Amino acid sequence: MKTDSPFRKIDPQSDHVSVRFDGEALMLPCGENLAGVLLVAGVMPFRYTPVSGAPHGPFCMMGACYDCLVQIDGMTVQACMLQVTEGMHINMAPAGGGCDV
Ligand code: FES
Repeated sequence: MKTDSPFRKIDPQSDHVSVRFDGEALMLPCGENLAGVLLVAGVMPFRYTPVSGAPHGPFCMMGACYDCLVQIDGMTVQACMLQVTEGMHINMAPAGGGCDV
C-alpha cells in the first residue's frame, strides 16, 4: 500500500505557520494553496457527504467540484481557493455543506 503523498512542495524553503485541522496542530507553508498542503500533510478526507456519508477531498483544485469544502471561522469554504495563513482553525465541513455527488 502506497503511503507517501504524491504531492510535492512548490517551495520547500517557504516559512511554515501553525494551523489546526479538526484540532490537530499542523505546520504548513505560508501562502501556499490550502487544499494542496493539507493533502501533502496527509489530511484526508476533508468532509463526508450528508446523504451517503461518503468521504470526499479535493478533486479539481480549481474551484469547480466543491469536494474540498472545509469550515474556517464558521464559514464553509473551498480549500483549493485559499492560501495558508497563520493561525487558521480548519474543521471538516459539516454534513450538508455541499452537494452529495
Ligand atoms: S478541489 Fe474542486 S472545488 Fe476545490
